[in-house]
Amino acid sequence: MTVAIHIQNLTRRYDNLVAVDNISFDIEQGEIFGLLGPNGAGKTTTLSMLSTMLPPTSGTATINGIDIQKDEDGVRNSIGIVFQDQSLDEELTAWENMDFHGRLYRIPKETRNERIAELLQLVELHERKDDLVKTFSGGMRRRLEIARGLLHHPSVLFLDEPTLGLDPQTRNLLWHYIATLAKEKGITIILTTHYMEEADRLCNRIAIIDHGKIIALDSPEKLKDRIGGDVVTIGSPDPERTRSVLTASQLGRVEQHEGKVSVSLRNAEQHISAIVLLLAENQVPVDSLSIHKPTLEDVFLFFTGKTIREQEADNKETMRRHQKMMRS
Ligand SMILES: Nc1ncnc2c1ncn2[C@@H]1O[C@H](COP(=O)(O)OP(=O)(O)O)[C@@H](O)[C@H]1O
Ligand SMILES: [Mg+2]
Repeated sequence: MTVAIHIQNLTRRYDNLVAVDNISFDIEQGEIFGLLGPNGAGKTTTLSMLSTMLPPTSGTATINGIDIQKDEDGVRNSIGIVFQDQSLDEELTAWENMDFHGRLYRIPKETRNERIAELLQLVELHERKDDLVKTFSGGMRRRLEIARGLLHHPSVLFLDEPTLGLDPQTRNLLWHYIATLAKEKGITIILTTHYMEEADRLCNRIAIIDHGKIIALDSPEKLKDRIGGDVVTIGSPDPERTRSVLTASQLGRVEQHEGKVSVSLRNAEQHISAIVLLLAENQVPVDSLSIHKPTLEDVFLFFTGKTIREQEADNKETMRRHQKMMRS
């Protein structure tokens, strides 16, 4: 295995906020690697440092062995970037947008034309190559941005929330393109997302990031294995009591969140009647009960004690308070 990206103790501060907090890991060549975490977790900051757009406060990283702080041009030539903010020219055609980018990278005309045609075919936009981007849907634009990011044949592609704001169907289609790319081109892809399903479906390995720290890193399967069995979720008007009764029972690990209580245990289906009986005996009212195989949402909850949505709400609150403090 060859290491494509090596990250060591990478840290970024903004005043007294540690946006990325001493992260270290390696990404193998050809891997689709996901940084999964709620809004404000530090995903974009990490990608910005790796792509040399933002200097780290401390720590180091290399892309294909090139140090991000010692050789910015070297790094930039070996990476493709598709970031959150739209950067296509609406008044140009798909082809012209690609061509403009190719000129920036000084790719000779003939090679440029070949590559543009090939990439537009890959993302199935070739038939629309002469249409203005302003006539494109959100999904088409994102596909064009990805194609453009690949024009100079980078060996590593950075995708910051590639499917943000797209409808589920378009999102599925885009996953298909990303997976095809990794397979056909053998490039390394590092993407950020706060969609659990996206990370699960697409990534070979995932680093879960929260408050700038990596709290777990493994393949989606192994992360879910760590939950230890199935998850039983109980809805009750009295979640506090539900939690205390279940905790006392020592059936499995108990979590309370968003008015629901979940227990993780092996062979859950064999314990359902016992759980129902236990709650009835203790006069705990139950509205609903369900069993499911662990998802990455459960993994996030397991490691942080919160759902990703709760964490996002918290991050927003922190930011609001911070802004208020700055104003006064
Ligand atoms: N330019 C900046 N100045 C101050 N704080 C910032 C800046 N950029 C990001 N942050 C803060 O750093 C944290 C991480 O942000 P970011 O990397 O954008 O998170 P994510 O991409 O995971 O949503 C957040 O708390 C955010 O408010
Ligand atoms: Mg971001």
